[in-house]
Amino acid sequence: DALVELDAIGAADGVEEWRVAYLGRRGRLTGLLRSLPQLEPEQRREIGSRANQAKNALEEALAKRTREIAQAALASQDALDVTLPGRPVATGRLHPTTQIVREICAAFMGMGFSVVEGPEVELDHYNFEMLNIPAGHPARDMWNSLWVDYVNEEEQQPMLLRTHTSPMQARVMEAQDPPVRVVVPGKCYRYEATDATHEWHFYQVEGLAVAEGITFADLKGTLYEFARRVFGEDRQIRFRCDYFPFVEPGVDMSISNFVDPETGRRPINRDEDWIEIMGAGMVHPRVLQGVGYDPQRYTGFAFGMGPERIGMLKYGIDDIRHFYRNDVRFLRQF
Ligand code: PHE
Repeated sequence: DALVELDAIGAADGVEEWRVAYLGRRGRLTGLLRSLPQLEPEQRREIGSRANQAKNALEEALAKRTREIAQAALASQDALDVTLPGRPVATGRLHPTTQIVREICAAFMGMGFSVVEGPEVELDHYNFEMLNIPAGHPARDMWNSLWVDYVNEEEQQPMLLRTHTSPMQARVMEAQDPPVRVVVPGKCYRYEATDATHEWHFYQVEGLAVAEGITFADLKGTLYEFARRVFGEDRQIRFRCDYFPFVEPGVDMSISNFVDPETGRRPINRDEDWIEIMGAGMVHPRVLQGVGYDPQRYTGFAFGMGPERIGMLKYGIDDIRHFYRNDVRFLRQF
């Protein structure tokens, strides 16, 4: 009876009624199964096994019929309403740091630089020694380092998470003759407390240009042009003297963060007119010598900038720690 009835049902709610009538808590088959304990043992085995077979058969038939009805509903015409708005497809996007790093690299590629990358776990030799920072030099304190608990076997050298991308200056020059014109984007790490403008992990984009006759005017012109390309015509830049052991003379470069007279606001909400975005300078003769370049013949400039700081100034982000907090409400805005 149950199977015949089920076959005749044409809608989902009819199927549910049927289920309650036969398989529900007070259903006919359930009643039968419940009454089993009152039977003689002999009968109980026989009837019990047949009741269970019946139950399996009904459950199977129910599942089949439910599928059939669902399919029929889908196949019937009003299941497809082409006038409904489409469902939005969630798309991913590039991390703001990736976007800024690419934009910086593109600005320099437009000026004839090529892009190279290097290792994040670096030898002491390249991170410091080749950059005119020997062991015990007080300037090592400028980079609080995360040392790796491992000594490179071939070189018998301590290793660390690179504290800047500058080690690539030496690696690039060792691998080729001048002229050199490269930018090097990559992750860096420092053993440091974090605050609104400092992260223990961040990116840098290094730059290096070495050839005959390069002067400090080339450094200023190139970095000025870079700032114009990334920040537009209106923002100002400032160079000040600074010290890095691998350049002479050395400078740092800042971007203006002036109050906008119209809105009364600064690009980033910090009580400072200038935000430092990079260190730079003329490559120190000792660095050139170290890689086998003749410092009498070749000169060059180098720079290392912080893309997160640049992103902060460009987009008005007031805390660098937003970048790596993985909060999609922040990331979605870029
Ligand atoms: N490597 C320096 C730093 O991390 C920046 C720099 C790069 C300065 C190149 C001068 C030249 O602070």
